[in-house]
Amino acid sequence: MIKLETKQDTINQFAAHVSSGKAAFFQFAGIDFVPGRREGPFLWDVDGETRLINCHCNGGVFNLGHRHPEIVQALTASLQTLDIGNHHLISRQRALLAEKLAALMPGDMPYTVFDVGGGEAVDLAIKVARGYTGRRTIVSASGGYHGHTGLALAAGDAKYYEPFGGALPGFMQVAYGDIAALKTAVSTDTAAVILETIPATLGMPIPPPAYLRQVRELCDAYNACLILDEVQTGLGRTGKLWACEHYDVAPDIMVIGKGLSGGVYPMTATCFRKELESVFHEDPFIHISTFGGAEVGCPVALKVLEISSAPDFLANVMACAAVFADGFQSLQAKHPRVLVRLRQLGLMMGIEMVNEYCGPLFSKAAYDNGLLSVYANNDRRVAQLLPPLIIDVALAHEILERVDASLGGVARMLGG
Ligand SMILES: Cc1ncc(COP(=O)(O)O)c(C=O)c1O
Repeated sequence: MIKLETKQDTINQFAAHVSSGKAAFFQFAGIDFVPGRREGPFLWDVDGETRLINCHCNGGVFNLGHRHPEIVQALTASLQTLDIGNHHLISRQRALLAEKLAALMPGDMPYTVFDVGGGEAVDLAIKVARGYTGRRTIVSASGGYHGHTGLALAAGDAKYYEPFGGALPGFMQVAYGDIAALKTAVSTDTAAVILETIPATLGMPIPPPAYLRQVRELCDAYNACLILDEVQTGLGRTGKLWACEHYDVAPDIMVIGKGLSGGVYPMTATCFRKELESVFHEDPFIHISTFGGAEVGCPVALKVLEISSAPDFLANVMACAAVFADGFQSLQAKHPRVLVRLRQLGLMMGIEMVNEYCGPLFSKAAYDNGLLSVYANNDRRVAQLLPPLIIDVALAHEILERVDASLGGVARMLGG
């Protein structure tokens, strides 16, 4: 007789064989959710009892919602004829995808190297900048996040690398949004400044309007590369295909990931200017990745780009963003003891609250009100609100109602 696994069986297996810490954390937090059925903006618990609107979206992996029919179709079709491919050989699928990316990039970035994860893509961006400039120093934002791999880890917040051997030489960090601080850090030894266009893990601080242009000018003055990490902000999240378009700035190197997968096949990309490709002239095999740009995933990413760059798609993001902008004005009046403001660029949204207890409390209150939302780990006053970009205005209103109830829940937990 087949034994049916209960949800608790899964939690126990996970605790015994994957992560005892995560299992304990979620049970302690009262969020013992195990994803089962998933479709569009919704996720159901494996026991079928709880339905959540996914406002986490893994930071953008589910920009197109879960199992978008055109994405599933693209992967199904590609599985009929393709597989991983060979990362040493010339590849038609990678060439097609890179050509499409080149057409969509801001500025002139005709080259792409494909990777599997965002951290790996950031590592490569740093290697390209160092190889091209012949310099070592990488300047990044304190509290920023670029992944947990080698060079990406070193460019991120200290708390992620301190337990694993400490800082690497050649990395320095300054406050995000502070051009004066950046001016004191950048020198003739700077290979690159790397920034998330809007740092998600730092709680979506929206930069002063001139900041990114000033960063660009500073990099130009020192012949340093500007790397923009658009792993979360790219692919329509902010209402433009790339967030840097809002600031009229084009980087030398752009990193994208998460949503490029369509939520079904891992794919990340490091795109860069033509001159920078010279790094690979002497030895084109100096950087390779067995699964980077796996051929079977390329048609999926192409479909993601086609959907996300459509004017109607981006207009819908802006229409829903306007609903949140209006709605939060009323919520601010209603919850003055909890809510400070909405940080927002399109559907890249951070709910800034009064203290660092609020982010974690909001995650729990949101869960109790049918929303999946996580707090910003490097600024726990902020809850991230990242709905799928395929929601409509009606669902945006429903999310707002649930946010309203969640803020009420936070106020009660705070004792107010
Ligand atoms: C801005 C940013 N860059 C890089 C990464 C790393 O991506 P990955 O987890 O795919 O390595 C993340 C992941 O959350 C991210 O948010």
